[in-house]
Amino acid sequence: MDKRTFYISTPIYYPSDKLHIGHAYCTTIADAIARYRRLADYDVFFLTGSDEHGQKIQRKAAENGVTPLAYVDRIVASFKLLWEKLAISNDDFIRTTEQRHREVVQTIFQKIYDQGDIYKAEYSGWYCTPCETFWLERQLADGKCPDCGRAVELLKEESYFFRMSKYQDRLLAYIEENPDFIQPTSRRNEMINFIKSGLEDLCVSRTTFDWGIPVPFDTKHVVYVWFDALTNYITAAGFLHDRSKFSKYWPADIHLVGKEIVRFHSIIWPIILMALGIELPKQVYGHGWLVIEGDKMSKSKGNVVDPLGLIEEFGADAIRYFLLREIMLGSDGNFSRDALINRINADLANDLGNLLHRTLTMVNRFNGGVVAAPKEKAPADDNIIRLAQETAAAYEQAMEKNEINAALKEIWTFIGRANKYIDETGPWALAKDPAKKDRLDTVLYTLVEALRIVAILISPFMPQTSPRIWQQLGLGETLTGIRLNDAQRWGLFPAGTKVAVPEAIFPRIEEKEAPGAAEPEAPSVAPAAAASVLPEISIEDFAKIDLRTAKIVAAEKVEKADKLLKLRVDLGFEERTIVSGIALHYKPEELIGKEIVVIANLKPAKIRGLESQGMLLAASSGEKLTLVSGEGLPPGSKVK
Ligand code: ME8
Ligand code: MG
Repeated sequence: MDKRTFYISTPIYYPSDKLHIGHAYCTTIADAIARYRRLADYDVFFLTGSDEHGQKIQRKAAENGVTPLAYVDRIVASFKLLWEKLAISNDDFIRTTEQRHREVVQTIFQKIYDQGDIYKAEYSGWYCTPCETFWLERQLADGKCPDCGRAVELLKEESYFFRMSKYQDRLLAYIEENPDFIQPTSRRNEMINFIKSGLEDLCVSRTTFDWGIPVPFDTKHVVYVWFDALTNYITAAGFLHDRSKFSKYWPADIHLVGKEIVRFHSIIWPIILMALGIELPKQVYGHGWLVIEGDKMSKSKGNVVDPLGLIEEFGADAIRYFLLREIMLGSDGNFSRDALINRINADLANDLGNLLHRTLTMVNRFNGGVVAAPKEKAPADDNIIRLAQETAAAYEQAMEKNEINAALKEIWTFIGRANKYIDETGPWALAKDPAKKDRLDTVLYTLVEALRIVAILISPFMPQTSPRIWQQLGLGETLTGIRLNDAQRWGLFPAGTKVAVPEAIFPRIEEKEAPGAAEPEAPSVAPAAAASVLPEISIEDFAKIDLRTAKIVAAEKVEKADKLLKLRVDLGFEERTIVSGIALHYKPEELIGKEIVVIANLKPAKIRGLESQGMLLAASSGEKLTLVSGEGLPPGSKVK
């Protein structure tokens, strides 16, 4: 049986400038949808590209003293680099300067002209070059472009016109009969009103500059850049050059575009297709704008966020996760560095990162790294199994409606539940009692199986993290061949699998030095310090500090840091890394086996690039320092 197909496109962006985080947002959504459909076993065609002609680009190139082609070549290379760094999985990248595209544009322009739907006349009206849009006097807002608010220019030139007015009623009927054609509904209503107010014939050629595709029968004209650009969607699908590809993928399933260009995609584009007798795309989806700390991004405000810098700093998956999780498709959303870091720390480092780390640590510790088959069952397991299945089903339903953030929410609810399951079942206690080995096996199996499902479900959103989890689970290097239905069935994790030693997938980001998290100087309090006791606190204040005994299991020097040691401590329920400023007082080898006291609930901190998950207690006076002892007690005992 042939696979179901799915064709999704992004706008083709203008290579007038480097792309910013708003463009990255749109392409990330499209990529997540494309990857989801591949996971759901569709044959996907995912297209992006560059819109290279027009007056705006020609002027930009002239300002830079280069030819338009030299100008766009350089910028398009930066687009491609960005998409690669952002792990975008597009199947094609179309440039409107390519020969394949020029042929399609000229062919359809000729055809529409031949059938009498394009005619020559005089254009007299206004033009917004940044938007590449024609406006009538009455459409202007205070004499400015009603879309972007910038200055417009008066044009008076001979032009070819496209008889859009002729198709107005057919288009309106189509939109009314196909409620899903324009989404979300707010955009659909806008478009219906716009059409009802009357469609003018559209100017589809220009003569006052030459950076464009020549009109085939009148070469002093170049084709209007939006007519040229919209056509990319059929060029790349093989309209002229690959009939079987075209019949396989066309009509497109979704043209994903920003809300400001829904009008071009749901009015001009469908009418071009109607004139050609080609089926209309199934959906035009208008997503919202990303604003920066509440403000529209713009060069003049100097608040343009460069996605490459963010990817460099936080990794592609963290940026992708933030954009997909934080913003509801169709609504505007805010980007802020603080919100990004919060998401990384709370959702990725904490929820997901800890679930993986705790689970693998326990499998390694209690079972020599090998996942045993589940044995003795308890109701808590059934809860997890049921929730896993409900999550996979709700995820599929959400993704079929492109509700990406809802799908992510479902996954994170499940992750939260799995973390709680660890606390409820207490595997470290089970591990201490040989009689409870069967129960322990079931608990550990439940956890790795939950993680297997999570790794599959997050793969469309976090394509780099998902295989890292897969690999740490011992399931192989990639998820090649894994499909959505592998996440819908419980119990596919092969017993006997050897897991890896866990590695942090998302280290916490510590922006501001938290108190006590700063590079730990060896405490150097003067002997008379007792005189300056800190302000009084209540017993409740003290109770917030979770002090535990712990055993040092490994210790090593931190390179290029004289005072620092990197310790591995066993807290009974888990192992942690603590970076401590005691290197001048203890040699690593004399620390191994020492039973000490640590603050178990101190916010982790990054010290010299290492994550320190807590702090150990030491008393000091002048040059002398001694570790507070927790000798003779099992690791994890409470200190009060
Ligand atoms: O309009 N927030 O190209 P363009 C979210 N070449 N998305 C944003 C955004 C923001 N702040 N800023 C831009 C064009 N975008 C035409 C398209 S298609 C046949 C031709 C995204 O470079 C959004 O998807 O101005 C918007 O529609 C697109 O970039 C516009 O890119
Ligand atoms: Mg634009």
